[in-house]
Amino acid sequence: EFRTKREYFSINRLAAKYYNYCLLHTSEGKNAINYLKKRGIRDETIEKFCIGYAPKSWDSLIKFYKSKGISAEALEKIGLAIPRKDKKGFYDRFRNRIIFPIEDITRNIIGFGGRALDESLPKYLNSPETPLFSKGDNLYALSKIKKDPSLDVIIVEGYMDCIMLHQHGFENTVASLGTALTKNQAKLLKKYTNSVILSYDGDAAGEAATVRGMEVLAQEGLYVKVLALPEGKDPDEIVSIYGPDYFRGLLNNAEDLINYKLTLAKKGININNSEEKLKFIEQAIEILSAVDSEPELEIYAKKLASEIGISAGSII
Ligand code: UTP
Ligand code: MN
Ligand code: MN
Ligand code: MN
Ligand code: MN
Repeated sequence: EFRTKREYFSINRLAAKYYNYCLLHTSEGKNAINYLKKRGIRDETIEKFCIGYAPKSWDSLIKFYKSKGISAEALEKIGLAIPRKDKKGFYDRFRNRIIFPIEDITRNIIGFGGRALDESLPKYLNSPETPLFSKGDNLYALSKIKKDPSLDVIIVEGYMDCIMLHQHGFENTVASLGTALTKNQAKLLKKYTNSVILSYDGDAAGEAATVRGMEVLAQEGLYVKVLALPEGKDPDEIVSIYGPDYFRGLLNNAEDLINYKLTLAKKGININNSEEKLKFIEQAIEILSAVDSEPELEIYAKKLASEIGISAGSII
């Protein structure tokens, strides 16, 4: 059976409404509501992001669509149903999970993310690559931010980071959904802003993704700053534990690329050991060699000089 993209988008839209209904108006959904409440998500946030709940049953979504004359084959095309191993029939991809619909910039729903309510793995299950959904070509919540070249866009890793920052008033936030940022995502962002603040998790994975991501973003002409989070914390935890003012302070102290690279290079070196110190200075000079403007270089050199106790002149 042939269906147009438009038809598939409307199937996805209806699925999002179904999951949202299951969350808000079924007895099974109560557990999921409690989970969201425990994480601090408010009712208006559930509505804003059309958060839902996929029931435990193997085929509740398939049955719901069957009653509307839409086949499981059609659901399979957009990743909502999976064929059984014995090829006899299908089952729902998302079961017993919190559901986050993912929109493209025109607000079509292109896919879903589903979080387990407990420690079971995978923690997040996402739509597979489908004719509608290609992970590296979209950013979560891009359809919800303002198009304003002078307004910084905050980029986080996860659904919950993004949603909780929005809830706390940082409504210019998008999520890259755990993937390394792609050129296409950077191009999309450039349509919305000239400057971004990367705010990935304060762990090794987040740091690695930051280093890779900032180069991709800079290559598309975006001005990039980095908000380095305390060890082991992500933006959701920061804003939930310490509040929005604290997060705003971190935003205001976000480092530009050069300073972030210097901070990383400095991590773990013992400044009192002259060998380590010299190694760091070599790395720092390598980093600073990317700075073309002399006044800019002088500012970096002066800051660095005061930190390591040598003269700015010798660095330059
Ligand atoms: P994290 O592991 O940092 O999860 O993954 P999180 O966003 O903090 O989740 P919570 O707070 O425990 O609920 C960051 C992002 O990477 C993707 C998801 O998009 C997630 O939000 N991811 C992670 C997956 O797609 N699958 C996974 O199993 C884990
Ligand atoms: Mn992470
Ligand atoms: Mn993690
Ligand atoms: Mn988290
Ligand atoms: Mn995280």
